[in-house]
Amino acid sequence: PEESVISSTGELAIGGCRVSDLAAEYGTPAYILDEVGLRRQIRRFVDGLAAMRPNSEVLFASKSLPAVAMYSIAASEGLSIDVAGAGELVMAFSAGVPPDRIYLHGNAKSDSELQMAIDAGIRAIVIDNFDDLSRLERLVTGPQHVMLRMIPGIAPQTHASQSTGGNDSKFGLRPDQLEQAVHRIRSHRHLVLDGVHVHIGSQVLDTMPFDRAVRSVAELGTFDAYDVGGGLGVRYNSADAAPSVDEYLHTIVRAAEQLPATARLLIEPGRSIVARAGVTLYRVNTVKRTGKTFVAIDGGMADNLDIALTDQRYEAYVATKFDKAPNTLCDVVGRQCESGDLMVADAALANPEVGDLVVMPVTGAYAYTMANHYNGALTPPLIVCNQGSSRLAVRRETFDDVLATHQPAMDHSSKDG
Ligand code: LLP
Repeated sequence: PEESVISSTGELAIGGCRVSDLAAEYGTPAYILDEVGLRRQIRRFVDGLAAMRPNSEVLFASKSLPAVAMYSIAASEGLSIDVAGAGELVMAFSAGVPPDRIYLHGNAKSDSELQMAIDAGIRAIVIDNFDDLSRLERLVTGPQHVMLRMIPGIAPQTHASQSTGGNDSKFGLRPDQLEQAVHRIRSHRHLVLDGVHVHIGSQVLDTMPFDRAVRSVAELGTFDAYDVGGGLGVRYNSADAAPSVDEYLHTIVRAAEQLPATARLLIEPGRSIVARAGVTLYRVNTVKRTGKTFVAIDGGMADNLDIALTDQRYEAYVATKFDKAPNTLCDVVGRQCESGDLMVADAALANPEVGDLVVMPVTGAYAYTMANHYNGALTPPLIVCNQGSSRLAVRRETFDDVLATHQPAMDHSSKDG
């Protein structure tokens, strides 16, 4: 993020906004997005790929931050959008994304969401399996572009929950099933096959698997379009090393020389676009010294499930003492009722005290996405900061929002007898 220390108070500013001002206006926990950094990162992908390979397209994997404001920023910067179901489709429509820039994914699509995509005239539906294909054969009444998701047979070194390209993946068809699928699509009078798709996994910190992914689609035959998915990893802490966007694009484009020269090349980054533009702001509720020092914040795995799911190593800082050197070794823990609700193990914080604001960087991707109601938690707001001004993109959920989905309890006061 666009981090800078405000010298007079020694506190952190995100996108030019002081954390104490953000906390006062929007409360905590809160997801904060730096719009300038985000747009700069989007342009690295869009301009970079366009310069290296003219006939190409960058799709934002919107599962990484499915918020109307994010769809709108993405579309305004020239990204197309990958949605993985009706819910994301609805948000993309609500943001005004043109249907011909939307691609629909999913390994368990229903009739109704396929119908929604068909009616809207989205750019293409990515077929994952033969049931998808049967549904489409039945539902389409006019020209419908489709792609075929294939198993690349590549399992990059990443956490098991982030590896989706291995041979036993639940996503896509086996190469030996391609011919049958292609035959069925080409013999249907309305279905138009654009090409093939693969996605190898997420948080991949090496460029080699991407080279192999492109080669794997090249081997599948001659098509108009090849989508090689997303997955570029990002730095979560100072010990991490990740390829730059430029290195990644070079790898993909060089490998794409194996593809027909006129073929369209698609990529689907999510995390690498938005992760580093986001931070989460928390307040310290408790500092407890037992065997260890525990700094307990007012959020946890309800607003960042990614940590428990992928063992990702994040960092944390006392944002209100950003100019102070760390002097306290502690575990930053959340408030959910699980020992696994550990946000940062062995963090070094600067004199953490109750009431301090704590910031966790690199939470722009898959944190808001997987927010949940564990222990009655409310989904935090999403705030967009831009050069010193801030705006609410998603408001904080309220207890009324939660109760609105529940039927009122039966009246227990009038008991018989
Ligand atoms: N395309 C497809 C078909 C995908 O399934 C995904 C991510 C992407 C693109 C974008 O991948 P990215 O560039 O963001 O790595 N919950 C996990 C991440 C799951 C990723 C799912 N698919 C986590 O929190 O790490």
